[in-house]
Amino acid sequence: MSILTLAGVSKRYRDASGRSHRVLSHFDLDIGRGEVVWLRGQSGSGKSTVLNIAGLLSTQDSGTRHIDGQDLTAPTQGLAAETRRTKIGMVFQHSNLLPELTAIENVQIASIVKRTEKDVMERLSELGLAGVAQQQAKQLSGGQQQRVAFCRALVNDPVILLADEPNSGLDEKNTTSIRNALSAAADRGCAVLLASHTSAFETIVSRTLDMEDGRIG
Ligand SMILES: Nc1ncnc2c1ncn2[C@@H]1O[C@H](COP(=O)(O)OP(=O)(O)O)[C@@H](O)[C@H]1O
Ligand SMILES: [Mg+2]
Repeated sequence: MSILTLAGVSKRYRDASGRSHRVLSHFDLDIGRGEVVWLRGQSGSGKSTVLNIAGLLSTQDSGTRHIDGQDLTAPTQGLAAETRRTKIGMVFQHSNLLPELTAIENVQIASIVKRTEKDVMERLSELGLAGVAQQQAKQLSGGQQQRVAFCRALVNDPVILLADEPNSGLDEKNTTSIRNALSAAADRGCAVLLASHTSAFETIVSRTLDMEDGRIG
């Protein structure tokens, strides 16, 4: 069953001088439960634009968007926010944690189902973070912060996980943790869309889509 479908999506941006540039052109994408789809393309090819539209953080100029069977082509702000909270997990290039909060608090604050500290602790432990759960985010390494961000993205058991260059600046050990987290999310039935310009996640990918001229090549 399709979890995320984009059909005929186009998007243009205006640059500082007001000129309009086409980034996506009749872009199509269809992802099912448990799939890990790698959106591959060089920098500037439109990967983040696709993820932001898929994650309801941005709107397309034309084309349709469906998530989990629901038409979200042009949702109200309320529906978009509700869908983001209940169905979508996102991980960005930088972890965007709240620096003063502990790892455990950063995850708990994102949780819509009230998760106990024990429950969150278990989730952090799966990512090798048991020892740093009570430390403030600002005291953690980049790799640890990114793993906390993964835990936060998955805390509401989303149907879609969108990961935008999630291993940016991380070493091989942390990249392996993130690869395992992506793979585990897919095993639980999550539809995973991964944007990356490197082959770091190749081994867990079910399908690769190449961005070419604003669409799938
Ligand atoms: N908010 C924006 N305003 C103007 N131009 C943008 C904006 N976001 C992205 N772009 C432009 O769209 C193109 C695709 O960007 P992006 O989706 O970030 O590509 P990628 O993630 O593959 O590097 C780039 O030329 C970028 O400069
Ligand atoms: Mg990008």
